[in-house]
Amino acid sequence: MLVHKIEEVGANVKEWKKQGFTIGIVPTMGALHAGHASLIKKAVEKCDKVIVSVFVNPIQFGPSEDFDKYPRTLEADVELAESIGADIIFAPSADEMYGEGQRLSNDTLTYVVPPFFFVNKLCGKSRVGHFDGVCTVVMKLFNITQADYGFFGQKDAQQLIIIRKMVKDLNVPIELIGCPIVREENGLALSSRNKYLDEKGREDALVLSKILNNIKSCYDKGINNIDALKETAFSFLKDVHELEYLEFVDKDNLEEKEVADDNTLVLIACRVQGVRLIDNILLNNINF
Ligand code: PAF
Repeated sequence: MLVHKIEEVGANVKEWKKQGFTIGIVPTMGALHAGHASLIKKAVEKCDKVIVSVFVNPIQFGPSEDFDKYPRTLEADVELAESIGADIIFAPSADEMYGEGQRLSNDTLTYVVPPFFFVNKLCGKSRVGHFDGVCTVVMKLFNITQADYGFFGQKDAQQLIIIRKMVKDLNVPIELIGCPIVREENGLALSSRNKYLDEKGREDALVLSKILNNIKSCYDKGINNIDALKETAFSFLKDVHELEYLEFVDKDNLEEKEVADDNTLVLIACRVQGVRLIDNILLNNINF
């Protein structure tokens, strides 16, 4: 069922809670692909009732980012989410989420601001304010849906770690479930932004997973020196790739690693055809 109003979600949630049902929330910005489908499937397996939100959240985009051109495919999203078993697809307008005519800035709107240590690195470095926007909307979605479980993809690893921190620090009564990255057969991590790439771009985009897999196999062979592991990436990079970062951090607190170990998360961001793509791998292969 497609729902646009917070009040309508609230009415359903109230009824479900009365009946003792568990509720799962899968927050998305739409343009759903097999990665999202895997989150919804997990939610449907684990929870009695599942809400999938579809909202291209304006406050997590910088002024020069792709808010306007971000793919919007609501009809197909509803079809996919319902076919997997979602009970509600919640697709609010920005006015519905933030108040009619509300100026979307932190001098008029209450924001949830994650700690500087978690946002001054990786994607947060080039996307200033991005995680404030993410935490604010995610907190609102948790409150609106009263969900017992929240499902997030591990592809946005920094996002998942920051949301975990928010939930812990603010005692939010929800359990977060991180779900593995879904990839095309050739290794390309699924992303709504892959839609911006042409065929050559998709081929060039394989560099991210190739670099990560190579680092993992070098680590498995016993190399734990991070400079040496980083060095292995350079042979994969061509003129078409604009590397933004390749970092080795602790999977729990994003602290920079001095030596690679089993708790090391390796994250990469690289522009291909002007499209900013991210990917990551955990060196011990276990989910985080
Ligand atoms: O990962 C996303 O799609 C978004 O950042 C999220 C979590 C739905 C918040 O808008």
